[in-house]
Amino acid sequence: MRKICVIGTGYVGLVSGAGLADFGNEVICSDIDHEKIEMLNNGEIPIFEPGLKELVDRNVTAGRLTFSADIESSILNSEVIFIAVGTPMGDKGEADLRAVESVATTISSNLNSYKIICTKSTVPVGTGSHLQKLIRSQCDADKEFDIVSNPEFLREGSAVKDFLLPDRVILGVNSDRAETIMRDVYRPLFINETPLVVTNIPSSEMIKYASNAFLAVKISFINEMANLSDKVGADVHTIARAMGLDGRISPKYLHPGPGYGGSCFPKDTEALVHTGEQYGVQFQVVKAAIEANKTQRHVILEKVQDLLPDLNGKIVAVLGLAFKANTDDVRDTPAIEIIRGLVDAGADVRAFDPIAAENMKKYYYSDLDTRDSVVETVDGADLVIILTDWNELRGLSLEDLKKRLRTPNIVDARNILSIDQLKTFGFNYRNVGRSRI
Ligand code: UDX
Repeated sequence: MRKICVIGTGYVGLVSGAGLADFGNEVICSDIDHEKIEMLNNGEIPIFEPGLKELVDRNVTAGRLTFSADIESSILNSEVIFIAVGTPMGDKGEADLRAVESVATTISSNLNSYKIICTKSTVPVGTGSHLQKLIRSQCDADKEFDIVSNPEFLREGSAVKDFLLPDRVILGVNSDRAETIMRDVYRPLFINETPLVVTNIPSSEMIKYASNAFLAVKISFINEMANLSDKVGADVHTIARAMGLDGRISPKYLHPGPGYGGSCFPKDTEALVHTGEQYGVQFQVVKAAIEANKTQRHVILEKVQDLLPDLNGKIVAVLGLAFKANTDDVRDTPAIEIIRGLVDAGADVRAFDPIAAENMKKYYYSDLDTRDSVVETVDGADLVIILTDWNELRGLSLEDLKKRLRTPNIVDARNILSIDQLKTFGFNYRNVGRSRI
């Protein structure tokens, strides 16, 4: 058991803090956002993440997890400090490390004993040595600390499971002392034989970017295969399934759609390209995946205009705003550009999302006409477009939907509807890579 402080209580920090407490550590989650800390101390969870409230409540009740807005005392009372603050994309695609550096400076003035400073946030390769120099320059020579890289692989919507049952744990260390302590932090995982990769800090930082960038490449690849499938009458789902039967490929992340979004793939791919450019290394494959992802939004808009060439004055019902199911997160969601394209073409847009509608209005379109149910959104519409793979949308009654639409047009950008049923009920439809089977 170790005394841990997690700085930053967002999607990564809060899940990681509660998970580390669940492993038997004593954890203080700290944040400069007093309001967020107050919510957490009142038993409220500031983000939507399935299973997180139960995980937090269980560990607060057990006395292993506390919340504090006093970052300095949290650091003073801890042995391992996880930095889990945001590293948003700067305007040239680089990762903005100002929050990370600010936390490092606070740590520098609170090194009352040997501490491990662990980057949990996604940080570009080289950040570990940058922090080592920064902290060393800001504290007395006798202060002892080690930097560790411990990247997260949490998917929003399944972050609790991904933390408690990870495919692997990556530790970037440069001392035996730090390795021993970090192994102890994650000890329960090794009891059930979770693979542990211990390496140097640059390799650990690279593993995070390499993993996310590769997944993004897979998605853009299958989207382009889908686009050709639509032209030649192939079925991209069969292609993906057959590809995935090859153990070297794996069937995962081969679901075509409107393109990836979220707070990670868009940011991490750009950051990797930017890092490469700093060292004179061209990431041509990742750059192509980024471009293909931007194009995919327009591919979906073209499908809409295949069915309704003149959108002027037409009512379009957008179902799904979150960048994926089981999250309220709309960062870089395909819905942003697709709604903009529909409005620019003169459409009257109505939108529905089970939980992300408020965020869409708060961060992007304050005047978006959002409705509280699918029925209210589709009644009288000329076309429906599905952008998020919510289970609620998978279960749509196409028979009922047909009666409610003014004209039976549907673009299923997530391939979640039955093509047989679409045909049976006489829809004009498009999907992604299965439109002509
Ligand atoms: C991702 C990584 O998976 C995770 O390991 C990392 O820590 C954070 O970034 P996340 O962004 O939460 O997680 O969601 P993920 O489920 O990976 O999906 C990312 C995007 O890709 C979503 O927009 C999703 O809709 C899209 N996607 C995913 C596809 O279009 N096709 C797929 O097959 C899989």
